[in-house]
Amino acid sequence: MTQADTSHLEPGTSRTVTLRVFRGDASGGEFVDYTVEMDEGQVVLDVLHTVQATQAGDLAVRWNCKAGKCGSCSAEVNGNPCLTCMTRMNTLDVSQPISVAPIKTFPLIKDLVTDVSFNYEGAKQIPAFAPRAPDAADGSYRMMQQDIERGQEFRKCIECFLCQDVCHVIRDHPENKPNFMGPRQFVRLAELEMHPLDTADRTEFIREAGGISYCNITKCCTEVCPESIHITDNAIIPLKERVADKYYDPFRWIFGKLTGRG
Ligand code: SF4
Ligand code: SF4
Ligand code: FES
Repeated sequence: MTQADTSHLEPGTSRTVTLRVFRGDASGGEFVDYTVEMDEGQVVLDVLHTVQATQAGDLAVRWNCKAGKCGSCSAEVNGNPCLTCMTRMNTLDVSQPISVAPIKTFPLIKDLVTDVSFNYEGAKQIPAFAPRAPDAADGSYRMMQQDIERGQEFRKCIECFLCQDVCHVIRDHPENKPNFMGPRQFVRLAELEMHPLDTADRTEFIREAGGISYCNITKCCTEVCPESIHITDNAIIPLKERVADKYYDPFRWIFGKLTGRG
């Protein structure tokens, strides 16, 4: 992150700032400078809206909640993948032009808007939640509190796809996309696999369709997650261990062959 320069950002004051915004579509584009007024306390999305309102009415920007909860406003600000609605201007060096680019990993539609349908196609393939029969005639279940809490972290995901954006497996190698679902889907798979009521075995799916072996645990995904989900340590590594247990544990393999469960 660029060092903050708050010397010109006294509370209640405004000043000019230059946003260097990517303009273009799938056929190409360029960065265009827009110098606008900004107030102390604004976020990058606010300033993009000022640009849109005053100088570039056709600027494509995707957002919904402006509260860090819908995951729509992901972009790369000064090269850092982030939510523009949660990136405060007073954390940036506003004495220099601030670049705003679309997330790189997905095909560009227009300006800052990308086609993230890759993620929804992956989600659709994941075997659904398969709960066991209720524990009581009234349809209720009994679960250990610690088993319930284990998956709570994964349910915080807002589907901003910043983790997908930084994952080098697909960011630098789009040809891997058919074979690798990416960290967001591993979070979803971990949520299902660790659910105390779920009965499905997704180990083969995680290995084959998920392509988890492509991940070399660089932790870049964890570093950018705005929900502070420990993607690598708490989702990916346990899933890798399940795959290793099933496919690479010789005793388990022999037992499976002998019992017909392999
Ligand atoms: S830890 Fe794995 S999934 Fe996360 S960014 Fe690195 S390679 Fe991608
Ligand atoms: S896991 Fe984190 S970074 Fe990835 S999509 Fe969910 S909220 Fe965004
Ligand atoms: S606008 Fe919803 S997360 Fe930024």
